[in-house]
Amino acid sequence: SRPVKLAPSLLSCDFARLGEELQAIASADWAHVDVMDGDFVPNISFGMPILAAARRASGLFMDVHLMVERPERYLRDFAEAGADGITVHVEATAHVHRAVQQIKELGKKAGVTLNPGTPLEAVRPVLADVDLVLVMSVNPGFGGQKFIPESAERVRTLRRWLDEVNPDAELQVDGGVTPANARMLAEAGATCLVAGSAVYGPDGGAAGLKRLRDALS
Ligand code: DX5
Ligand code: ZN
Repeated sequence: SRPVKLAPSLLSCDFARLGEELQAIASADWAHVDVMDGDFVPNISFGMPILAAARRASGLFMDVHLMVERPERYLRDFAEAGADGITVHVEATAHVHRAVQQIKELGKKAGVTLNPGTPLEAVRPVLADVDLVLVMSVNPGFGGQKFIPESAERVRTLRRWLDEVNPDAELQVDGGVTPANARMLAEAGATCLVAGSAVYGPDGGAAGLKRLRDALS
């Protein structure tokens, strides 16, 4: 199987030390940027200015996860603030195909995602058009939640579907990823793992990232 990308979530880092926290994960593949609007999810995180600051502080691929109602309103803003990839929720827009096209027209990698309670069929019509599919393995809104075990089967199903129509797309998992389940998720077909609290633990992002990497090797 392919090497698995690791995407630490900045949501769990110390925002007062954003530059250093990005340095700590410099050997990661991507930086995952969780944007929450207090409407699509019951929490507010941060928006374009923090993404722009992260962009100035790091050369990492900025993987922006929009937990935002009607994300099409802000795609250009996040592209201009430094996103390299933008992922939208199918539950947040009536026009997911249009949102995907807009992200591509902005020259960015287009991702689509769905909550744990949303049938996988909701993403099937756009599988051939996207650069990334994200399987949420917690209900989005907060870091540090427990992995929902049924998510593994959802990864396996999407792996099969993507292999048929778009084998090069990334298959990402986000929520409750730890060294204890990372390998199982890679074997289920994930190509990119997001981790917040498992990376930015008490001994810092570099140590947390290494534990995840070791669990995969
Ligand atoms: C959840 C976010 C996740 C979150 C992951 O709403 O989308 O990216 O930060 O955090 P952990 O790894 O702690 O579950
Ligand atoms: Zn996320």
